[in-house]
Amino acid sequence: APDIPDILSPAFAENPYPAYTVMREQAPLIWHEPTQSYIVSRYEDVQRIFKDRAGQFTTDNYSWQIEPVHGKTILQLSGREHAVRRALVAPAFRGSDLQQKFLPVIERNARELIDKFRDTGSADIVSDFATRLPVNVIADMLGLDKTDHDRFHRWYTTVIAFLGNLSGDAEVTAAGERTRVEFAEYMIPIIQHRREHLGDDLLSTLCAAEVDGVRMSDEDIKAFCSLLLAAGGETTDKAIASIFANLLENHEQLAAVREDRSLIDKAFAESLRFTPPVHMIMRQSAVDVTLSGGTVPAGATVTCLIGAANRDPDRYHDPDRFDIFRDDLTTTTAFTAAADHLAFALGRHFCVGALLARAEVEIGVNQLLDAMPDVRLADGARPTERGVFTRGPQTLPVRFTPLPT
Ligand code: HEM
Repeated sequence: APDIPDILSPAFAENPYPAYTVMREQAPLIWHEPTQSYIVSRYEDVQRIFKDRAGQFTTDNYSWQIEPVHGKTILQLSGREHAVRRALVAPAFRGSDLQQKFLPVIERNARELIDKFRDTGSADIVSDFATRLPVNVIADMLGLDKTDHDRFHRWYTTVIAFLGNLSGDAEVTAAGERTRVEFAEYMIPIIQHRREHLGDDLLSTLCAAEVDGVRMSDEDIKAFCSLLLAAGGETTDKAIASIFANLLENHEQLAAVREDRSLIDKAFAESLRFTPPVHMIMRQSAVDVTLSGGTVPAGATVTCLIGAANRDPDRYHDPDRFDIFRDDLTTTTAFTAAADHLAFALGRHFCVGALLARAEVEIGVNQLLDAMPDVRLADGARPTERGVFTRGPQTLPVRFTPLPT
């Protein structure tokens, strides 16, 4: 049997990539006792499961994996019910809503965060910027009280810990469940009040949205807001930190991006391929499914390793190299943000917030580069990524010469 480090071991959390290589090559479909799931690591298999053209997979596994913390969200739904629910929320994250409502909010929030360190010559891109921007943006978009930003930050950290709790730590589970109750107590009265006083914010859009005579209940809206904090917060936070880390470690590419800002788009796609924020997505098989490495029986949970698939040499040339100029990666498009890397998944559950995430990264990176013309890693600092379920740099201390005011 191949010698594969356990995905719950500390060594794996530090660097999963050597294990991913062994899995892709020697054990592309492997039963993992602790998570009671089959692990899949090759690009062709993960892509096929996400696309699911033949309707062989469901997201029923989310009923125990995410429902205890969020309630029922669109992630658990399938078929027509999913399509209708998704159509209620999707328009808020693209087109004119994105342009007119989100972009100014992102720009303002990015500026406010940078203003706190722009004169100091030093910052930690992770704690001073990346972990703050996405959650502040979503809270502002929803039209929630600014003074609650810290509370959201705490909630989403607890929720993410719950979702990444593969070893089943009881305290982490309990804290996640408590957060669900606290969030409902906070959110439901706000939703009820907003229904009577509709405004221009995202929460009002969600209250008023209607497809085929269907509207969202208070509980649906609360669950969706909870999902937004986690799905839109943690992921984008890791994406911002990772793109910055990857560029800081590749000086020529950083210089090229600084010179030609339209390259941020390529850098974003390559960074999502090379260091995706979400490394694991689970599905449940509805029937027996034969993949490249063997057959998954019906009713099994399947863990798709995005980080392994994105570095599959059968798909990407020299996959362990960060290269924004690579020609075998499709970048995002203005309309769908579709790309061939798997960081946003594919198919029916393809990330609803992909364009919003791209806007946050683009605006964030642009503003950071403008404020820090000679940004570099602090002496001796090297970005260290950690994480199994989600993954990104833990700190990113930088130095720069402040611009004259
Ligand atoms: C779905 C990743 C940003 C909201 C997903 C999925 C992935 C993902 C992998 C698929 C989950 C599955 O198939 O089980 C990411 C990454 C992001 C990001 C890497 C940042 C770079 C955002 C943002 C939002 C968001 C900013 C907020 C609007 C959602 C929602 C879904 C989703 C609501 C569920 C879609 C559905 O079930 O139809 N995301 N996401 N995401 N994402 Fe994102």
